[in-house]
Amino acid sequence: MRLNFDTIRQRLAGKATLTLHAKSKLGPYARIRNIRGESKRIVVDRNSFIDGELLTFKHGGEISIGEFVYVGESSRIWSASQITIGDRTLISFGCFITDNLTHPLSPSKRHQQFREIFETGHPKEIDLSERPVVIGKDVWIGCNSIVLRGVSIGDNSVIGAGSVVTKDIPANTLAVGNPARFVRELIAE
Ligand SMILES: CC(C)(COP(=O)(O)OP(=O)(O)OC[C@H]1O[C@@H](n2cnc3c(N)ncnc32)[C@H](O)[C@@H]1OP(=O)(O)O)[C@@H](O)C(=O)NCCC(=O)NCCS
Repeated sequence: MRLNFDTIRQRLAGKATLTLHAKSKLGPYARIRNIRGESKRIVVDRNSFIDGELLTFKHGGEISIGEFVYVGESSRIWSASQITIGDRTLISFGCFITDNLTHPLSPSKRHQQFREIFETGHPKEIDLSERPVVIGKDVWIGCNSIVLRGVSIGDNSVIGAGSVVTKDIPANTLAVGNPARFVRELIAE
């Protein structure tokens, strides 16, 4: 099945979902919340399998996923700016990748955002300190890892299970831990 039931329900309700290219599939646990409201803002290229959540915010957000990418169950990719994931990258289960702070640091603005979401929906204009995230090609992100805003992870790199990536990771690198630290260079093929 190319589309899962939740996505079919979203489309029947007239909501934007995603642009899913040929031979890519949404698994049974996939959840698309394209709050921005334009299906072209979430694009999944050929032969990829998505079983997690892809979400854009009302005020912004673009998710671009390459070919042969895997996004595991209960992983969440939340964009208010731009998140790019390169070909053949594997994102295990339970990961969170975000290009923004989700909530303002100021308590009054945070409460205002909460009230707006609760009463009328996500705000059309808000500053969540957005910074794009770029994950390269052939990357493997271990289960339950978090990638924070503004981070780039270079091609072929591996992030150990349970890591929190707060700063750029170069290509061909094994990094682990919270915050994720360089362990060793991986031999480029
Ligand atoms: C990183 C990983 C791939 C192992 O790579 P490795 O080359 O065999 O690394 P090592 O086991 O030799 O560990 C190297 C160092 O990193 C540490 N380390 C390894 N994985 C770690 C992790 N996830 N978190 C924190 N530290 C970790 C080791 O303790 C070791 O530290 P030391 O040098 O102080 O002794 C593996 O530990 C891992 O996290 N795999 C992800 C598995 C996963 O998410 N599976 C879900 C399905 S996709």
